[in-house]
Amino acid sequence: TGSEQLEQYSGALLLGVLGDPIAHSKSPAMHNAALAALGTAGHYVPLHVKPEQLQQTMEAIRTLGFRGVNVTIPHKVEVMKYLDEIDESARMIGAVNTIVNDQGRLKGYNTDGIGYVRSLKEEAVPHLSGKHVVVLGAGGAARGIVHALSLESPARISIINRTASRAVQLAEDAGLGSAAQGYGEAESETVMASAEVIINTTSVGMHPHVDELPIRADWIPEGIVVSDLIYNPLKTKLLEVSEAKGCKVHSGLGMFVYQGAYALEYWTGLPAPVEVMRQAVLGSF
Ligand code: ATR
Repeated sequence: TGSEQLEQYSGALLLGVLGDPIAHSKSPAMHNAALAALGTAGHYVPLHVKPEQLQQTMEAIRTLGFRGVNVTIPHKVEVMKYLDEIDESARMIGAVNTIVNDQGRLKGYNTDGIGYVRSLKEEAVPHLSGKHVVVLGAGGAARGIVHALSLESPARISIINRTASRAVQLAEDAGLGSAAQGYGEAESETVMASAEVIINTTSVGMHPHVDELPIRADWIPEGIVVSDLIYNPLKTKLLEVSEAKGCKVHSGLGMFVYQGAYALEYWTGLPAPVEVMRQAVLGSF
């Protein structure tokens, strides 16, 4: 693993997040509040890393003795080639959002999908088993979520995507056989008619395009659960129209908080102060 680690001036944990752009990340506020609540000396810093600086940055993480980092857009896939080990789920998803540095040995994890599913279960759908779950979108975010959902024994996972072939591929990768199917937008209406949970993983409706909907409002069944990974705005147009149809709605804030909670637990070995983290994110809007 190359260079030797600097001797640290104190026992403080060094943590951070690598991204480009990174200035608006809410992770520093969330994790610094968590460290304070745990009584753990440490610093979580935003690190603006451009793609051509990624390799050097990973070496610097080792040299400076960072305990870990989160990785965000656009580095989640690329960073994998600079790691010593990749957790099995992260390998299946094909992306890493959390790195743990064990004495110079870097291991990658993906806490996005498990973070999302934990929040969905705690905040909206305690039991996913036996349910028909419809996932909108088939990009990187959808991959993590479909993988985590597949561990919850849903009756059926239907993936709908603008580019149908990506949905079909993702369904196949889920390893659930005929219980996971991919579709194009032409089949949306029929597939959604039997949905019990709808999850939007696309960026449609995200700030500043707050008036956009990923699906036609009239195709959303009344009274089901509708969830959006987006947390800016906290209540997307999709959640607004769903609420008007008597649906229970679930925003992406919980996913953001729990992906951070799992990461913090990997770094510190301590149970994350989830409510402190949630309030810190809400306070940073
Ligand atoms: P992420 O990692 O956030 O999932 P991504 O891999 O670029 O980002 O995937 C974006 C997802 O949102 C894809 O499913 C994309 O559909 P395509 O596969 O057809 O590109 C979907 N998406 C983005 N903008 C969209 C739009 N305006 N309408 C419909 N789907 C859209």
